[in-house]
Amino acid sequence: MNLEKICSQVIEITKSVGEFILSEKSNIKELIVEEKGLHDFVTYVDKTSEERIVEKLKKIMPDAGFIAEEGTANNKGDKYNWVIDPLDGTTNFIHGITPFAISIALMEDNKVILGVVHELGLNECFYAWKDNPAYLNGEEIKVSSKNTVEKSLIATGFPYYDYDRLEPFMKTMEYFMQHSRGLRRLGSAATDLVYVACGRFEAFYEYSLNPWDVAAGAFIVQQAGGLVCDFNGENNYIFGKEIIASNRFVYNDFLSIVNDLMNKN
Ligand code: IPD
Ligand code: CA
Ligand code: CA
Repeated sequence: MNLEKICSQVIEITKSVGEFILSEKSNIKELIVEEKGLHDFVTYVDKTSEERIVEKLKKIMPDAGFIAEEGTANNKGDKYNWVIDPLDGTTNFIHGITPFAISIALMEDNKVILGVVHELGLNECFYAWKDNPAYLNGEEIKVSSKNTVEKSLIATGFPYYDYDRLEPFMKTMEYFMQHSRGLRRLGSAATDLVYVACGRFEAFYEYSLNPWDVAAGAFIVQQAGGLVCDFNGENNYIFGKEIIASNRFVYNDFLSIVNDLMNKN
């Protein structure tokens, strides 16, 4: 399988569907926004984009299955599966702010082997495939080399509906506000991850995310030299609904702070 070729085909898909998403920006009105769950929004743009992505990916690998947010295709493949978020950052998109991104990963036997995150606000396409470096618009990227949490800029996300762990999560925010360079909430987990990959953020953590939010971005972080885990330092970060990603120099300290505070109540 020529993963480099498949990666460039996926990038082309994100470009053409990205053009559609941007062209619909001015048409989005609150009226056509549906609430899937509490504070969980979806528009016809998310759904149409996913349909178009699925249709195009089927042509590249007819036997691969899909794990796709809007459920326009949900047949599981035996060996290969595409994991798709057609628009990550829908709330930003609806409110006319950035970032928002298309996120597509390819899994082989439950391991990601290719990832593309195309952030449409700045037209920045991040991508990587197995055994190769990560790239941003054709240039190789690396995680940052800052080596203390105090010097780190940290990204996170606030849960929209899963408030069970809010108390310990607030403790982590309190801690990082006082012991880091700053805390950011961009509103697109896929973008948070690729910003760790290219060294803009030192670290990212969030709970209550889904596979389509993180599969591609987490892989790109790893290919850019960073580390990814769940809140216990284990590997269950794609389906486990909690993720930490960072450069390798702050990883141990960052993980132990998040692990310690998130497991207290
Ligand atoms: C959301 C974004 C956000 C995160 C939410 C996700 P969506 O994805 O990634 O940063 O905090 O939990 O649901 O709904 O815009 O695709
Ligand atoms: Ca998402
Ligand atoms: Ca989405």
